[in-house]
Amino acid sequence: MLKKTNKRPVAGEIPAAWTPALKRLVDRCREQVDGALQTGLRDPNRYTHEVYRAMRYSLTAGGKRLRPVLCLLACRLLSGRAAAALPVACALEYIHTYSLIHDDLPALDNDDFRRGKPSCHKKFGEATAILAGDALLTEAFTLLSRPDLLRRIDPLRRLRVIEEISRAAGLGGMIGGQEADIRGEGMKVSLAYVNSLHARKTGALISAALVCGGLVGGGEAGPLKILRRFGERIGLAFQIQDDLLNIEGQPGLTGKAVGTDALRRKATYPALIGLEASRKTAGRLVAEAVSLLAPFGAQAGPLAAVSYYMITRNR
Ligand code: IPE
Ligand code: IPE
Ligand code: MG
Ligand code: MG
Repeated sequence: MLKKTNKRPVAGEIPAAWTPALKRLVDRCREQVDGALQTGLRDPNRYTHEVYRAMRYSLTAGGKRLRPVLCLLACRLLSGRAAAALPVACALEYIHTYSLIHDDLPALDNDDFRRGKPSCHKKFGEATAILAGDALLTEAFTLLSRPDLLRRIDPLRRLRVIEEISRAAGLGGMIGGQEADIRGEGMKVSLAYVNSLHARKTGALISAALVCGGLVGGGEAGPLKILRRFGERIGLAFQIQDDLLNIEGQPGLTGKAVGTDALRRKATYPALIGLEASRKTAGRLVAEAVSLLAPFGAQAGPLAAVSYYMITRNR
C-alpha cells in the first residue's frame, strides 16, 4: 500500500498472472458490486414505472462490471480496503449502462442485442430506453451525493470524485468520444483521430474509475497520476479488443452482434491497421500500463491481472 505522504514507493515485481487468490479477490469485488446494485434497485414503490423496469433490465443483464471492479481495486491498492468505494463503483456502472442503452439506439449504433439480451429499446421501445438512460445518468449523481452512503469519504474528496466522473462522462470525455465515433463513420480518418475518439469514448470513464478508487482510498497526486496514465493505456487496449471482438468474436459469448462496425464503416484500429497490428498494439499498451504500476510493487498484482484480461477476454 502506498503511504498518503506521497513518498516515492519502492519498485517491486508485479505478478501479472492470474492466481486462484487473485481470481477470488476479483470475483469478490464483482459480487460486492452486483449485490450493491441489486439492493439499490429494490424499490417496490418504483416497480410501477416502466422506466424503472428498463433500468433494472439493462443493469442486471450481465455486464462484466469492469469499471466498478477497477474502482474497488484502485481503492484497495491505496487504502487496503474497498468497501468505501462501493457507491462510487455503482455510480460508474449506472453511467456505463446508460451509455450502452443510448449507444444501441437507432440514432447511434442501432444494435439489437446487448449483454446477451435484446437491447433496451428493443425490449421497452425507444422512448422508454432514452428515459432509462437519462434516469441512470441522473441517479448516478444521486448516489454520488448521498451523505449516508459516502460518510466514509472525506467531503473534499467526494467533490473531486464527482468532478472526475462528470468530466469523464461529459463533452470532454465520453459524449465527445461518441460524437467523434458517429462523425467518423465512413470517413477516412487518421490513427490520431481514432486514438482521440477511443480515449474519450472509452478511456475516460475507465481512467476515472481508477482515479476515483484512488481518491476514495486516500491517494495523493503521485499515485493518482500513475492510476490515470495506467487507465488511459488499458482503456485504449480495451476498446481495441472490443473492436477485434466485433470482427472475430462469438455473439454467444460477447452478447452482441459481430460485423456491425464494418457495416457502419466505423473508425476502428482493425479497420485502420489490420487485425494483427491491432492485437500487437493492445498487447504493447497493456505491457506499458503494467510497467507503470511498478512503484506499487506486488500490491498491484490484481490490477495487472485485470489489465491482461482486458485483451485476452472473449466477452
Ligand atoms: C462495452 O463495454 C462498451 C465499450 C466501451 C467498449 P463492456 O465490454 O465493459 O460492456 P459490459 O458492461 O461488459 O456489457
Ligand atoms: C460504446 O462503444 C462506448 C460507449 C457506449 C460510450 P461501442 O459502440 O464501440 O461499443 P459496443 O461494441 O457497442 O459495445
Ligand atoms: Mg458506439
Ligand atoms: Mg455500439
